[in-house]
This record gives sequence, structure tokens and C-alpha cells, in this order.
Amino acid sequence: MTENEFIPTRYTAKIESGTVTYRSPSNIALVKYWGKREIQIPENPSISFTLNACATTTTVTFRAKKNTSDSFSFDFLFEGQPKNSFKPKILVFMQRIEKYLPFLKEYHFTIASNNSFPHSSGIASSASGMSALALCFMDIEKRLNPNMTESYFTMKASFLARLGSGSACRSIEGDLVQWGEHQGTTGSSDLYGIKYPYKVHEVFRNYHDTILLIDKGEKQVSSTLGHDLMHSNVYAETRFNQAHENLSKLKTVFAIGDLKSFITIVESEALTLHAMMMTSIPYFVLMKPKTLEVINEIWAFRESSKSNICFTLDAGANVHVLYPEKEKDIIYPFIKEKLVPYCQNGAHITDRIGFGAKKGVL
Ligand code: DP6
Repeated sequence: MTENEFIPTRYTAKIESGTVTYRSPSNIALVKYWGKREIQIPENPSISFTLNACATTTTVTFRAKKNTSDSFSFDFLFEGQPKNSFKPKILVFMQRIEKYLPFLKEYHFTIASNNSFPHSSGIASSASGMSALALCFMDIEKRLNPNMTESYFTMKASFLARLGSGSACRSIEGDLVQWGEHQGTTGSSDLYGIKYPYKVHEVFRNYHDTILLIDKGEKQVSSTLGHDLMHSNVYAETRFNQAHENLSKLKTVFAIGDLKSFITIVESEALTLHAMMMTSIPYFVLMKPKTLEVINEIWAFRESSKSNICFTLDAGANVHVLYPEKEKDIIYPFIKEKLVPYCQNGAHITDRIGFGAKKGVL
């Protein structure tokens, strides 16, 4: 699909008012998106596990404005309370997507969001939040254009979510989603995420992600700034090529269930992301001492237990511990006993691979 195909022609139905709810999950990248061009075009392809427990539930209530003015009109509530500090981000999102959803200025919207994970846990809510909102808007568009196909709905929801936050385009579906053009992946696009189209071995089914909240503080570097720094990072081109190569390698890894190679790629991706931050100007170290201690514990346990535990990181200090379902009985007790003590007040979230957003869950 090209960008212009997301611009609707004429709507066939008319609606005065309504309400819609979506629950959309977060996702954890295995090959990382880090570096982008205008507007929200990734410098390299990425792939992620869709999560299940970490999610945002958003309800959008809408009513036709009496006089269609030339401005957006909306209220935003977070966990039941008006939250004006989030409004500028939503306004920018609406401005970016108006071309593709021309009804946006015709309604007043009340947008109410809740996160399943604790506020300021250091877990980014932009992927789940922006994808939930994009889905609600798409549901309204579907009411205006009832003939819309399901595949167009899903693709456009991902396309719109991307314009809110890049990684959000990987949260619409599950369980493995790829975003960004990649030679070896048929149907891949810079514009939206696609469900990974090749064989995935059953060892990856029900994969676990226990998220260790090492540092619950505000993000030290916003992802927008982080992505920007890649424009001048001397290693940027090499890094972007590496992401392409890692995705190519993952094709066989997923097909045959090669966990050893999976671990090498996933951990190397996490460390490379952090290496990019350390080699940017200005430079940042986003790990905390406890992040490193946890990594060392994971490596030592992997060696002694011969298990397939591994880690990945976001652009922060928290650690995502990944492991297969069939090893949970040896790995989860280790996490509880040895890794949870490194978390702030023992805070951690037991999550696992999920199957994407769902409509109507309050
Ligand atoms: C490190 O999607 O948060 O989590 O497009 O600026 O909203 P924006 O960035 P964002 O970046 C996520 C970066 C990452 C890696 C990843 O999820 O691929």
C-alpha cells in the first residue's frame, strides 16, 4: 500500500455520536528501531513480540460539532482525571493524521485512557497508548465507511499509530510484528507493521517477558531526542545495515527454533541500542549499575543452568527477561529469588507474548 491509498474518498454514512473502546498492548522489540526520518519513517526495519499484560485501554466518545470549525476539539482524561499535559502530543497526532481521517474536525472527542501498568514505572506507554487511540479513530472511520475491509482497517490502524509513535505500529496485531522495509520480507513496509509472514517454531509460542523495573524514574532521554541523535552518530550506517542483517538471520532462527542464535541476536541488539546512545553527541548511559548486575546474573545462570534465558532492554534501565514457556519452571524461580531484589521495591511485571489489540474491553 502507498501513502495515498490511506486517504479516503467519500464517506457513505453519517453519524451524530457514539463511543468506542480498544485495549491495545505494548510490545518489546527484538531488532530495535532507533533512528528515523520525517515523518516517522524508520531508518531500519524492526521486529517485536507483542505483549499481553502491559496495555492501554482507551475509550473515545464523540459527537458531531454544531458548527464545524477549523480546529480540533477534544478532552483527555488519564485514569479518570483530566490530564492537560498529554494534550499537545495528541494534538500533534491529530494534525499528522487529519489528511487520512478528514472527519477529525467535525466532532468533539472525549478521550479517556488507562494503563494496566503503574504510572511512571519507566514503561513507555506511547506504543500502547497511540495504537489504542488510532484503533478508536479507525473504528469511527469504519462507521462512516461500513464497506471497509478488515485487512485495510488493520493496516491503516498501524499506519496511523506509526504517526503517533513509531513503535506503536507494531502493537495492533500479534504475536510477532515487523515494521520497515526489508528485502527478505515480502510485504514489509516503512509505513505500517505487518504480522511476521514466515514460519515460527513452536518454541516461541507463549514466550515469556518478565519486566524488571530497575529504575522507575522519568526517562532520561526522550525517544524523539534519541532517534535524532542517530543523524550524527558516526556508527549509524553500520548499525542500520546490521539491523537488516539481523532480520535476515532471524528468518532461519524463527523457522527452526534456534534459541542459541536468537539469544545472540536479541542481546546484541539491546547492547547495540545502548552503545548508540553512548556513542552519540551528547552521549548518554541509560543503564544503571543494577541493570549491569542483572545482566551478569542472567549470563551466569544461563551458563550454570544451560537454560535459554536472555534479556533485552529499551532505551532505559529496565530489563526485559525473555524465556520459553517450557523453561518457566526453572527460570521464573531464579528471577524471583535473584533478580527481583534488584528492582525498585521489588517491582516487576510478568508478561508474555500476546495477540494484539482487542475491541470493547473496558
Ligand atoms: C528503544 O516508538 O518510542 O523502544 O517514534 O519517537 O515515538 P517515537 O519513538 P518510539 O521508539 C522506540 C524505541 C525503542 C526500540 C523499539 O521499540 O524498536
